[in-house]
Amino acid sequence: MKRFFVVGNWKMHTSPKDSLVLASAIAAHPSVQHSIHGGVRVGVCPPFTSLAATSAALAGSSIELGAQNCHTQPSGAFTGEISAPMLAMAGCSFVLAGHSERRVHCFENDALVSEKAKAIVSAGLQPIVCVGETLQERESESTFEVVRKQLSILLSHPLNLLQHAVVAYEPVWAIGTGLAATPEQAEEVHAFVCKELADRGYDVPVIYGGSVNENNAADLFAMPHISGALVGGASLHVEQFASIVSAAHRALGAGA
Ligand code: PGA
Repeated sequence: MKRFFVVGNWKMHTSPKDSLVLASAIAAHPSVQHSIHGGVRVGVCPPFTSLAATSAALAGSSIELGAQNCHTQPSGAFTGEISAPMLAMAGCSFVLAGHSERRVHCFENDALVSEKAKAIVSAGLQPIVCVGETLQERESESTFEVVRKQLSILLSHPLNLLQHAVVAYEPVWAIGTGLAATPEQAEEVHAFVCKELADRGYDVPVIYGGSVNENNAADLFAMPHISGALVGGASLHVEQFASIVSAAHRALGAGA
């Protein structure tokens, strides 16, 4: 049976006060509580400056705290950076690695993403490794090749970095555009990723990201290889996020 993981990526939004209000409302939401009770895993990734406030708001709930990025080194003269052990001390249980916005705007390549995944695993945290093709790559029919390349350095890493990871398939053209992949488009890539992982002995959940909302979540979750969602915009709205979490719960009940 699948286990669903629904993660809110708050990106560069929310002050500490906003985070406290948002996280408290999510934690107190009856359908979120009911879904967690029913086996859905839920997490949120606030900006670094809101980790403490969010952690306080989530205390006593089973909602997990995550971070959006980290440095490759555990400590050192790296002005402006935050390390994975620091995130562990801040209460995080997982960290995103290789989000497309970081690949594009911060020039992160596959080798760096793999070093970050290594740092996350070494700190005892779970990496959520993000992969996905651009519109141009999809149109030139190189989606599978791109995703395989993004995964390959991680798949062949001697430290088995993916063993305890989650993979997020996020087509770049669907992120923040309101234009989600259709369930069939997403499923095709998820099935491919699951096969690539299974061929190397990994049984890793693959979650979908890119314009997930309360209207499309149920159809995405009904797909056999989609095990949750990485949610950006909709995760900043309590009711929308709660609806997505509930859709995962209903999919579990339907035996997806
Ligand atoms: P979106 O973002 O849901 O706003 O498209 C998803 C993501 O970037 O993880």
